Amino acid sequence: KKIQLIHAPFWLGGGRAGAELGPESIVEAGMKRQLMHMGLELAEEIVVDVPRLAAEPAASGTKMKYLAEVKEMAGLLGEQVHRAAAGGRFPLVLGGDHSIAIGTLAGLTGHRGNLGLIWFDAHGDLNTEDTTPSGNIHGMALAAAIGRGSFTLADIPGAGPFIRKENVVIIGARDLDPGEREYIRAEGIRCFTMHEIDRMGIHAVMEQAIAIAGDGTDGVHVSFDLDVLDPLEACGVGTPVPGGLNYREAHYAMELLAESGLATSLELVEVNPLLDPSRRTSRLAVELAASLLGKRIL
Ligand code: ARG
Ligand code: MN
Ligand code: MN
Ligand code: MN
Repeated sequence: KKIQLIHAPFWLGGGRAGAELGPESIVEAGMKRQLMHMGLELAEEIVVDVPRLAAEPAASGTKMKYLAEVKEMAGLLGEQVHRAAAGGRFPLVLGGDHSIAIGTLAGLTGHRGNLGLIWFDAHGDLNTEDTTPSGNIHGMALAAAIGRGSFTLADIPGAGPFIRKENVVIIGARDLDPGEREYIRAEGIRCFTMHEIDRMGIHAVMEQAIAIAGDGTDGVHVSFDLDVLDPLEACGVGTPVPGGLNYREAHYAMELLAESGLATSLELVEVNPLLDPSRRTSRLAVELAASLLGKRIL
């Protein structure tokens, strides 16, 4: 397959500068070299011209910070993602904070009618304007994708239908806000917390996740927030939470996805190189993408 790298250098959804440097840092860590070494074909890389600065975090009348900028980013990113998917290329989107998923998913749902979604994250990203503790839209990205709250995919030009809750899986959660917890329970959202991963093992979790996301869908998007990893392995993220996936679990999860042949797009988000002078988090992002795209040991 032909890979379409798309940079989304956006930080306003996380409210912490540095995430806009993620895409460049991941490429500097060897993303293109690695993919070419694997024999994959690369389309010419796209850098989306997303808003980088805003005077005020909040317009009057909303708790959502930088809402106008997030909408603009999502429209521009969605257009590029749609074009790549429609052209038969595999979109590999580099963030950027996790609000970029709203753009990625706008583009993907514009192309596919029934997308499955695997959301690797320490967080739920299921807040709404009413439940958010921070006002940061990266904590609302999954909610927007499934149509929960006042700001959703439907606000982005070109977006298709919402992602069906039945085909969504969260993996690695360990920091959920009260409103998110309630919603997950009430709606029966499939959420494999770190507790489930410890109990069942990553193999069984991934088997179920693949079955759920693949059930009746015409594609599966993998949205990978690097903060799902333990901060001891990946410290370069905006909102670290102790007790995450280790290196081997994360790689194994990607390898199982590769074996399943199910994933049709990937995004790597929340890498903040300012918080990781060693750039280890960026190198991990490269390795995880390689595993998902079929790199094997033997
Ligand atoms: N739950 C918190 C919030 O809503 C943190 C969200 C962190 N999200 C992320 N994509 N890193 O603000
Ligand atoms: Mn996230
Ligand atoms: Mn189309
Ligand atoms: Mn997170």
